[in-house]
Amino acid sequence: MALRNIVKKGDGVLQKHCRPVTEFNDRLHIMLDDMAETLRKADGVGLAAPQVGVLRRAVLVLETNVPEGEEERIVELVNPEILECSGEQSGPEGCLSYPGVYGWVSRPDHVRLRAQDRNGAWFEVEWDGLTARAFCHELDHLEGVMFDEVADHIMSEEELDAHYGKDEQNDGAES
Ligand code: NI
Repeated sequence: MALRNIVKKGDGVLQKHCRPVTEFNDRLHIMLDDMAETLRKADGVGLAAPQVGVLRRAVLVLETNVPEGEEERIVELVNPEILECSGEQSGPEGCLSYPGVYGWVSRPDHVRLRAQDRNGAWFEVEWDGLTARAFCHELDHLEGVMFDEVADHIMSEEELDAHYGKDEQNDGAES
């Protein structure tokens, strides 16, 4: 596994529509492994292939809403599709491609989706809360959409301090 460079806002690759993955080969597996290492190092909750410069429909989401005692795990989603969403959550959201900037973003509170695994097998999952938010954020990346384009507004320092508390580290909301 190797760390990959995370593309930053301003790079045109983040504005492009991504094409489906059609070959479930070593090249895909290496990319997914590298993305997982990159995501762990960056301490984020999700990462999309275009963020490492690959215009294909593959994302990672950190499943944070796990039962107590279980480890958070990174889920690989190839060619993901939303089947159903419901509810709404509004809160701060950031992006590993746009460091230090947070927007107030509304997302569905619950999503049911399907995707292929690294070998091409389809599966379904349902997520709530932060994991649902992270997934929707990643899906937007596959359409070339950044969170600041769907945010109600970009949050000021004061607003962030008020939300998180002045001395609290804001972590876990970037993807
Ligand atoms: Ni992002």
